[in-house]
Amino acid sequence: MKVFNIAKADKNEIMTEVFKSRAIAVGSPTVSNSILSSVAGWMEFLKQLKFKNKKAAAFGCYGWSGESVKILQEQLKGAGFDVIDENIRSQWNPEEEDFAGIPALVTALIGEEEAEDEEENDSDGKSAKYQCGPCGYIYDPEKGDPDSDIAPGTAFEDLPDDWCCPVCGVSKDMFEKVK
Ligand SMILES: Cc1cc2nc3c(=O)[nH]c(=O)nc-3n(C[C@H](O)[C@H](O)[C@H](O)COP(=O)(O)O)c2cc1C
Repeated sequence: MKVFNIAKADKNEIMTEVFKSRAIAVGSPTVSNSILSSVAGWMEFLKQLKFKNKKAAAFGCYGWSGESVKILQEQLKGAGFDVIDENIRSQWNPEEEDFAGIPALVTALIGEEEAEDEEENDSDGKSAKYQCGPCGYIYDPEKGDPDSDIAPGTAFEDLPDDWCCPVCGVSKDMFEKVK
């Protein structure tokens, strides 16, 4: 499984991965009763490529009205994808119960056997390194971040929400998993 941030990644690179994949999941927050403009632009690109025989799911976060998931599902259908009903809609930031819905969504997308393989591959997720987008610093869970009292062995996911890049000071959400 590969994860991309549509707003930051090379649009053609993501599309190449869609081409190679049997299934995709696209997410967006609800913004002004719609989807994020960067996602909307990419969705138009996706439609133009007329993919066939691929499954898709939608997920998103919202504050009050939450139209993004429905809009994404409709656009994915319009782009020729076989869209599954399973979706994840998180109010504000995802909570435990939202994460709990992921296995069912993944199984509906790629089947039970492959979903289990994905889970096994992900068991090393706790040792995954993450790179800071702006400055390139790499967080290595084996080392932790002694300057911020983060003990060696702390997974990136377990860092406190207010943890910042020790080099340039940006927040956790500016980091991408190192593949
Ligand atoms: C400019 C702006 C417009 C938004 N419009 C909507 C909206 O129309 N409906 C809604 O449910 N949430 C709306 N939201 C809330 C976002 O969906 C919410 O902030 C986001 O899902 C949570 O991510 P965050 O923690 O990064 O803000 C809006 C947020 C912003 C900043």
